[in-house]
Amino acid sequence: MTLDLDFVRAQFPAFSQASLQGQAFFENAGGSYTCGAVIDRLTRYYTQRKVQPYAPYNASRLAGEEMDEARTRLAAIMGVDTDEVSFGPSTTQNTYVLAQAFAEFMAPGEAIVVTNQDHEANSGPWRRLTERGIEIREWQIDPETGHLDPETLANMLDEQVRLVVFPHCSNVVGEINPVTEITSIAHAAGAFVCVDGVSYAPHGIPNVGELGPDIYLFSAYKTYGPHQGIMVMRRVLGMTLPNQGHHFNGDTLYKRFTPAGPDHAQVAASAGMADYIDTMASHHNIAGSAAEKGAGVHDLMRAHEEVLLQPLLDYASSKNSVRLIGPAQAASRAPTVALASQENAEDLAEKLVKHGIMAGGGDFYAQRPLGAMGVDLSKGVLRLSFTHYTSKGEIDQLLNALDDIL
Ligand SMILES: Cc1ncc(COP(=O)(O)O)c(C=O)c1O
Repeated sequence: MTLDLDFVRAQFPAFSQASLQGQAFFENAGGSYTCGAVIDRLTRYYTQRKVQPYAPYNASRLAGEEMDEARTRLAAIMGVDTDEVSFGPSTTQNTYVLAQAFAEFMAPGEAIVVTNQDHEANSGPWRRLTERGIEIREWQIDPETGHLDPETLANMLDEQVRLVVFPHCSNVVGEINPVTEITSIAHAAGAFVCVDGVSYAPHGIPNVGELGPDIYLFSAYKTYGPHQGIMVMRRVLGMTLPNQGHHFNGDTLYKRFTPAGPDHAQVAASAGMADYIDTMASHHNIAGSAAEKGAGVHDLMRAHEEVLLQPLLDYASSKNSVRLIGPAQAASRAPTVALASQENAEDLAEKLVKHGIMAGGGDFYAQRPLGAMGVDLSKGVLRLSFTHYTSKGEIDQLLNALDDIL
């Protein structure tokens, strides 16, 4: 079974907008197009249900039910319990709340392992805990390849380490880290695990229950949804860490790490992400439980992306004027391709505009990995990122454009 791309693109209103015709979108790692199911739910919420939710009158009851539906259905896809899923304004804000919880939970002198492969969102909030007496140990990437070696981590762990944080996949290196293997190494040493899945989830929402981390974070606005951060917090850790919400909400797991009132409309509209996965599953004859459908759709997306990605990696590897960051094999990475060169990356992105390519240049808040790999941060990287809705025609358009500007 291969992906029916016409069907896929019909689910995204952006592809039928006159203003976007001829424009090939390659900044998906910054934020994806939104699927129609999410937009429809958002419109319905704002027009029919925009009242305080969870009261008995009809509009309110429906609003509350739709918010619950979003958590229930996304949790089922991710193989976790409904109350283990919560929403926050963004992944960065979720991480800051978590860091605050760990600061209260940990004793001075205890340690957290961070990486220099992460986006700043899963790095800075933890590193700041040195101010609270927490030791920070940095698990470092290989400066040539950007690779994070699990064996190195194993040698960094001892009974002081309470938490290991790392990305499922970096937003510039692109390599998919073996989450389950790393999690078992950390768990065996008695540490909890927090995974930043922001750069991975858009390529197929994972089964977090099977993967095994205690915390898994991703951003709905990069996964065809509204501008929300989604957090999976497994029960044991969630009920162990100090409550960060109102004191009277402390018994409700999904309220413990969301101190702000949630954005009701966007939480409700996130159920559209589950609609999209269901629609994709039924169109491609993928049956079974929500988690099975999620896994089937994940595999379809990944397979399509891998076929499209390899020619871009081959092209980048063959060019002397650019350095491909991360692996050259599509199977081991996400289609988030960063290229370093002697030219300023923002200028390169600008040159791509006349070719109808929407891409960006800069450091993408990944200064630590780029710096560790010796990339000149004043020039940055040109980042070309796509998803399963990208077509072969758009890849060809990109390759022709790159040929002209590089
Ligand atoms: C890998 C990664 N982690 C975290 C973030 C931060 O996500 P948010 O914008 O939801 O705070 C980003 C955003 O670009 C990212 O790419």
